[in-house]
Amino acid sequence: MTSIAQALQQAREQLQHSDSAQLDAEVLLMHVLGKPRSHLHAWPEAPLDTGQLNRFTALVEARRKGQPVAYLTGQREFWSLPLEVSEHTLIPRPDTELLVEQTLALLPADKPLQVLDAGTGSGAIALALAHERPHWQIFASDRSPECLVVARHNATRLGLGNIHFFTGHWCDAVADQCLDALVSNPPYIAEQDPHLVEGDVRFEPRSALSAGMDGLDDLEQLAAAAMRVLKPAGRILLEHGFEQAKEVCNLLKDNGLSEISSFRDLAGHERVSHARKTT
Ligand SMILES: C[S@@+](CC[C@H](N)C(=O)[O-])C[C@H]1O[C@@H](n2cnc3c(N)ncnc32)[C@H](O)[C@@H]1O
Repeated sequence: MTSIAQALQQAREQLQHSDSAQLDAEVLLMHVLGKPRSHLHAWPEAPLDTGQLNRFTALVEARRKGQPVAYLTGQREFWSLPLEVSEHTLIPRPDTELLVEQTLALLPADKPLQVLDAGTGSGAIALALAHERPHWQIFASDRSPECLVVARHNATRLGLGNIHFFTGHWCDAVADQCLDALVSNPPYIAEQDPHLVEGDVRFEPRSALSAGMDGLDDLEQLAAAAMRVLKPAGRILLEHGFEQAKEVCNLLKDNGLSEISSFRDLAGHERVSHARKTT
């Protein structure tokens, strides 16, 4: 019989080349047992049955080969919401919480606003906004029907009824001048960036990550769409790469937007840029 402590020890040895071996092993075992981390620490001598051990061993082996833990468990937390993810969706990043924070900070909390999350993936941003502001109408688009299946499923599981999902190109499904805010975390990595073939990122959909030679193609499309879809005084907030703030601010300015500013993440990098339609 293999105990919880022995299974974790063996997994840590197998995953020794990962800098998150301990955490990965624990998350995978929690997933197999359907128990919280406290259970692993409270019952280290409890035996795994054969089915549990086989499933855990297979998951650890897949992780050793590089598969992201979120795809193996089908889950990732974002904005303290437990989200389902699949190999069709980007794995939501903590960095993107800055976009949610700034959207909540800039828009009035007490008005019934209309906000579009363009390129919603697993629904992360739309779900966080819908959860925080139940009286806002959130629209969420993605050109990937597979992403929208996951995003819709997350909304249903979380009981969030104030999101309308659309399959298609960024803002195409929304009428002119109907939005108080357009928010997006679009693909923004340059096509030839070597990070695309490293680590967990190489398992994520390329269509969710890269955007042309300099990574700016999709940011440019969104900046160009803003004047059409925003109401007067509406806002656009875009996540981008940590070295792209200057280019993104120029795109916003070139497309007729004003009150342009960028916000820094916890590492001090400008990761979100904002502008307003004032004309
Ligand atoms: C970087 S991912 C962000 C996913 C999610 N918003 C998040 O933060 O986790 C970009 C998303 O944009 C979608 N996308 C890419 N091009 C698009 C387009 N032209 N129109 C709509 N969605 C698009 C991709 O399918 C992907 O889900």
